[in-house]
Amino acid sequence: MPAKILDGKKLSEKILEELQEQAMELKQKGIIPCLAVVLAGERPDSRLYVKKKQEACKKIGIESKTVFLPEKVSEKELIKEIEKLNSDNSVHGILVQLPLPMHIKQEKIVNAVSPKKDVDGFSAENLGLVAQGIETFASCTAKGIIRLIESTGIKIMGKNACIINHSIVVGKPLALMLLHRNATVSICHRATKNISDFTKKADILVSAVGKKNFVPAEIVKPGAIVIDAGIFLEGKKVFGDIDFEPVKKIASWIAPVPGGVGPMTVACLMENTIIAAKAFASKKWEK
Ligand code: GUN
Repeated sequence: MPAKILDGKKLSEKILEELQEQAMELKQKGIIPCLAVVLAGERPDSRLYVKKKQEACKKIGIESKTVFLPEKVSEKELIKEIEKLNSDNSVHGILVQLPLPMHIKQEKIVNAVSPKKDVDGFSAENLGLVAQGIETFASCTAKGIIRLIESTGIKIMGKNACIINHSIVVGKPLALMLLHRNATVSICHRATKNISDFTKKADILVSAVGKKNFVPAEIVKPGAIVIDAGIFLEGKKVFGDIDFEPVKKIASWIAPVPGGVGPMTVACLMENTIIAAKAFASKKWEK
């Protein structure tokens, strides 16, 4: 039997519907949830992702603000912009789109965002909390992938999971979240020898490399849940990492590109923004 499709678009629409109601409730209480996005440079893929985030904000009633900065912006100037947003009470969530221009140190920037507004979950504080099992502001992609896996109804506990990615966006937070659910986790990356030794044992396989057909059916365990979190743009066409049709024949569940992880990431970003706005509101009402 071919794999069932993990429909991220459908699941994300359900999440967005609920968030729309929560945004409305906040508005009725005088708080307009607001997400600020900082984009340094002109990468067309980053521009496209930022556009999708803005569209989702508009759809559910979150205000969005975008700060465009030139590719050559200095680290100091970028931090100054982030600090302005940190102290702006009308902004509840801040996201600095990655990757950053080469001359800027990523860890300095992600740690400049106030942890209370860090809806990406990339700061040392929020990533540290994820390591402790507190996932309030976990990475949106990792949260989205966990939601997709949980939607299958299959228990994560005791499963072998393999993630091909070790970034702070996907691999590290997702590994911590799967560990917290008692999976046995392997993280593979560009220096891993014989990746197939790990993937062939994986009941849950997540790939986020960005290379078309990076994962052929031969390296997938039959019956696995396969999550494609890779993005590769060929003109206007989007491809993932998984060789979809052959892998679909042997997997139990498969999350496609497009329509799998992407919309779930955006929905979880909206969720994190609403969480941040609610936390701001309850602090305000405490006073
Ligand atoms: N670049 C690719 N994915 C992401 C993401 O989830 N957040 C940010 N800030 N940048 C990204």
